[in-house]
Amino acid sequence: MTTTTATAPGKVILFGEHAVVYGRAAIAVPVAKVKATVTLTDAPAGAGCTIAAPDIGAHVSLSDHPQDPLALAVRLALEEAGLQAEPDWQLTVRSDIPIAGGMGSGAAVSAALVKAAFAHSEPDACAQPDAGTVNRIVYEVEKLHHANPSGIDNTVVVYAQPVWFVRGQPPLRFDIASPFHLVIADTGIASSTAAVVSDVRRAWESDRLSYEEIFDGIGETAAAARRAIVSGNVDALGPLMRANQRLLRRLDVSAPELERLIAVAEEAGSAGAKLSGAGRGGNLIAVVEYQKVEAVQEALLAAGAAGAVITQVGS
Ligand code: PMV
Repeated sequence: MTTTTATAPGKVILFGEHAVVYGRAAIAVPVAKVKATVTLTDAPAGAGCTIAAPDIGAHVSLSDHPQDPLALAVRLALEEAGLQAEPDWQLTVRSDIPIAGGMGSGAAVSAALVKAAFAHSEPDACAQPDAGTVNRIVYEVEKLHHANPSGIDNTVVVYAQPVWFVRGQPPLRFDIASPFHLVIADTGIASSTAAVVSDVRRAWESDRLSYEEIFDGIGETAAAARRAIVSGNVDALGPLMRANQRLLRRLDVSAPELERLIAVAEEAGSAGAKLSGAGRGGNLIAVVEYQKVEAVQEALLAAGAAGAVITQVGS
C-alpha cells in the first residue's frame, strides 16, 4: 500500500483585495507557516474514493457527493489525469489555516487534494500536469465557494510564490529586494467571502462612479507597493497599508474588531496595518520592523486576537 502526501501553503493578500475582482492589480504572498496537507492511501478493492477532513467533521465519497468542493477537486484531477474508473482511495485532509479567515484555506485544501491525486495516479513527477493545470482546476472549485472569484487565492497557493495578479492575465512573479516582516492576526470572526463580495457588487451597481474611483485608488496603492518591494523601500509599506485600509473602509468591508486590532498593532509599533482578504472579520496584517515583531504579536494576543503569526516575506 503506497501513501502520497501533498501540501499547499496559506496566503495573505498584501494589497488590492476587492478591487482585484474589478480588474485592478493585487499583491499576494504565500504563508508557509500554515498549510493544508493531504495524505492519500490506497483503500481495499471496491471501497471507492472517500475524502475525510476530520478537523471539520467532513466525510464525503466521490460518487455520493460529486458537487462537494472536496470531491470536485479530486474528480476534476482524475478527469485531467485520464482515469475513467473511480479509484479505491482514502484521502485525509488536515489544515492549520484558519477557515473563513482570508488566508486561502479553501484554495489550499483544493490544491493539496489535486496535487495528491496527480502524484498518486502518475508517480513520475515529470509526467504530472504543470502548476497552470492545477491552478485551473482549483479555480473551478473556488467558484463553488463564491460566484465570482478573481483567481488570486488559487494562484498564490498553487504557485507558492509572491504574485502580482491581474484578473485574466498570467500571474507575474516579482523580486523582493529586502525581506520584511508581517504579524498576521486573526480576529476569530468567521467571514463569508461570498457575502462580502456580493455586498460590494451591490454597492458598486448602485454607485459605479464612486466605487470605480475607490478601486482605482486601491490599484494605485498596489502599484506603489510593488515598486517599493522591488526596490527594497520597505519603509514605504506601512503608509501604503494605512492608505489601502482607508480605501477598504470606504468599501464598507472593515469591522469594529478589525479596526480595534489594527489600532492595537499600530500603537504597539507596526508601521501600518490593514485587513487581508474579504474583510468583515478574518485576518489583519501588520508590517513591523523585525525588532518589534514580538511586541506587536504580544499586544495583539493580549488584546484578544484569536491567533497571531509572525512571518517573513522574501528571503
Ligand atoms: O478568500 P479571501 O477572503 O482571501 O478573499 C479573496 C479576495 C477578494 O478580493 C475579496 C475576492 C477575490 O475573489 O479576489
